[in-house]
Amino acid sequence: MFKCKITKKKIPQIINFGRMPIANGFLNKKDFKKEFFYNMGVSFSKDVSLMQLNNHPRPEMMFNANYPFFTSSSKFMKNHFKNYANWAKRKYVKTDNTRIIEIGSNDGTFLKNFKKKNFQHLAFEPSKNVSEIAKKNGINSITKFFNRKNLITFDEFVNKTDLIFGANVVCHIPDLLEFILTCDLALNENGKIIFEEPYLGSMYKKVSYDQIYDEHIYMFSISSIKKIFNIFDFQLIDVFPQNTHGGSMRYVLERKKTNVNKKINKWLEIEKQENIDNISGALEFKKNCELSKEKLQYKLNNIKKKGKLICGYGATSKSTTILNYCNIDSKIIDCIFDTTPNKIGKYSPGMHIPIIDYKYFSKRFYKYAFLFAWNHKKEIEEKEVGYLKKGGKWITHL
Ligand code: SAH
Ligand code: TMP
Repeated sequence: MFKCKITKKKIPQIINFGRMPIANGFLNKKDFKKEFFYNMGVSFSKDVSLMQLNNHPRPEMMFNANYPFFTSSSKFMKNHFKNYANWAKRKYVKTDNTRIIEIGSNDGTFLKNFKKKNFQHLAFEPSKNVSEIAKKNGINSITKFFNRKNLITFDEFVNKTDLIFGANVVCHIPDLLEFILTCDLALNENGKIIFEEPYLGSMYKKVSYDQIYDEHIYMFSISSIKKIFNIFDFQLIDVFPQNTHGGSMRYVLERKKTNVNKKINKWLEIEKQENIDNISGALEFKKNCELSKEKLQYKLNNIKKKGKLICGYGATSKSTTILNYCNIDSKIIDCIFDTTPNKIGKYSPGMHIPIIDYKYFSKRFYKYAFLFAWNHKKEIEEKEVGYLKKGGKWITHL
């Protein structure tokens, strides 16, 4: 049994994915011996309908000066954040003096879309390397975690903030209660919290268990967000499904005023019918993960038996879960092609598959390419349009 991070009650483990390294811990050969591992399991709290990691490394081990993920590395995501900002401006940014906070602002891709005179904003981004890039982009990036201690020094944003934005960051914050209390401290009476995160319902449907890794401590649903924020007298007032990261949900919350919201109630009903708000969905997911692992191992072994070569494409954090859970090493996948300078020349966490500059992908031929960055499928297939023509085949675990 494990403790729910919200209710502190004992909750059952659903799946044990086994020994896992840091998902984004791409490393050099000389560091293999001192690589860090932990046991990755998830449990489900029925009180708050929340899927959560049992153990995870300390945030400082992941969010530091070597954070390898840059929002702007995907054209599709850059465009998504432009649309997100335009939507927010139309709906919520009513005056030039609107005070905005973004958390997990990374290289500033989202906030860059707001830039103009009188734009009052703060960006909390603990990972120094990406935070520095945001600063160069003219963003007021604070290289710190978003919590009450770090917020309180910014007078202009205490009880005066109109909007708090986030994307793919709330699920990274182990102490969700501290996060909500910090929002409470920042927001004015009518302030809103708006964030989007990978959606549990999409993960169940796709059996995309690779969404689970050290940084993703929670897998949220509408039911869980509503229940957790209710504890602090915030209410969920709107939701908007997104097609990013294999299926995400954007949530809008504000201080409690009224309890009636037909749209949210309709979604809660759907989540109930699909067992997203209760433990049966999680147990079904466990069976599907085990089946998916067997099928993938069978598929890859068959390709190898035929003497064909397999490479990977996109050294994603998600791939760390797939490779380590399914025990796939460099005997099966020769190398992984990627665009990220920080990863190229290093080895994948745990399984130690070499990471190679994506420029060489079109020069060397692999009959099969495992698309680990499956959520960027369209963008990558467009970039590597010659691959299929040469007789190459994209594969995934999905
Ligand atoms: N919002 C961006 C980045 C997501 S990656 C996007 O969607 O592309 C998550 C980011 O959140 C990282 O840059 C990480 O450094 C940052 N982060 C992690 N914990 C945080 C916290 N407690 N407060 C603020 N930012 C945090
Ligand atoms: P992530 O899923 O952990 O964010 O990682 C995405 C990885 O995919 C990142 O290392 C960059 C890589 N990538 C490519 O190699 N080519 C591409 O066209 C895109 C969009 C991503």
